[in-house]
Amino acid sequence: MDWGLKNRLSRIIQPDGRVLMFAVDHGYFLGPVRGLEDPKKSLEPLIPYADALMLTRGLLRNCIPPETNTPIVLRVSGATSIERDNLPDEGLTVSLEDAVRLNVSAITLSIFVGTEHERQTLEALSELVDFGEEYGIPVLAVTAVGRDIGQKDARYLGLACRIAAEQGAHFVKTYYCDDFEKVTGSAMVPIVIAGGKKIESEIDVFQLAHDAIQQGAVGCDFGRNIFQNPKPEAMIRALRSVVHDNKTPKEALEMYNELSKVTA
Ligand code: 5RP
Repeated sequence: MDWGLKNRLSRIIQPDGRVLMFAVDHGYFLGPVRGLEDPKKSLEPLIPYADALMLTRGLLRNCIPPETNTPIVLRVSGATSIERDNLPDEGLTVSLEDAVRLNVSAITLSIFVGTEHERQTLEALSELVDFGEEYGIPVLAVTAVGRDIGQKDARYLGLACRIAAEQGAHFVKTYYCDDFEKVTGSAMVPIVIAGGKKIESEIDVFQLAHDAIQQGAVGCDFGRNIFQNPKPEAMIRALRSVVHDNKTPKEALEMYNELSKVTA
């Protein structure tokens, strides 16, 4: 790995080897998702607690102050919407020159392994990796599951993560599942987990993060379970304590409850 690529990746994965990324890219196919109707207002108090932000160039240019030092993981894939049943039919939507212009720390796309669009998304990954290696920009592959969320097992997720790493992805985002250590154990590169749909109880969110890390993930890239929480600042700060301070889910819940009294 070249110095520039390592340097960018080390801005995302922190010196303790862990990361709490904050995913707010949902609008690229969901439009004004609940909790992000007014992204500027929702995100401003939360940005200081994220190690990196995952978002689109539109949200970045419109809602994130250029003075921010939080590393940006730029989504460069899309061109589908929730209005049609074709979510895996993604392509690259951002010129790589624009990613450089935006001074991002990583670029990301979804791969849809096992779908009829597997080939096009894996070829797009390879294109990004060629570019990333040339310019020193790490590539995050997301093993997207579309509407099958919660239904994919360690065999499938292990396969998808390993294929992403074999194609050259520098880190991979996937979903937690039973026997998750099999996924992290064969992935070759750092794994972060997505949160998925909003989980009813806070302690279950902390448990998810805790279990994934115990089984080899370097951290989380959560979205809805932060920005759709009634107390998002308390949530992101308590999640940080699980990711970076090894707090138990119970300790994180206590922290969340205390912070909920004093944050908006
Ligand atoms: C979609 C993504 C989204 O960023 C992702 O699903 C993250 O957020 P959440 O925690 O809300 O699932 O990568 O493929």
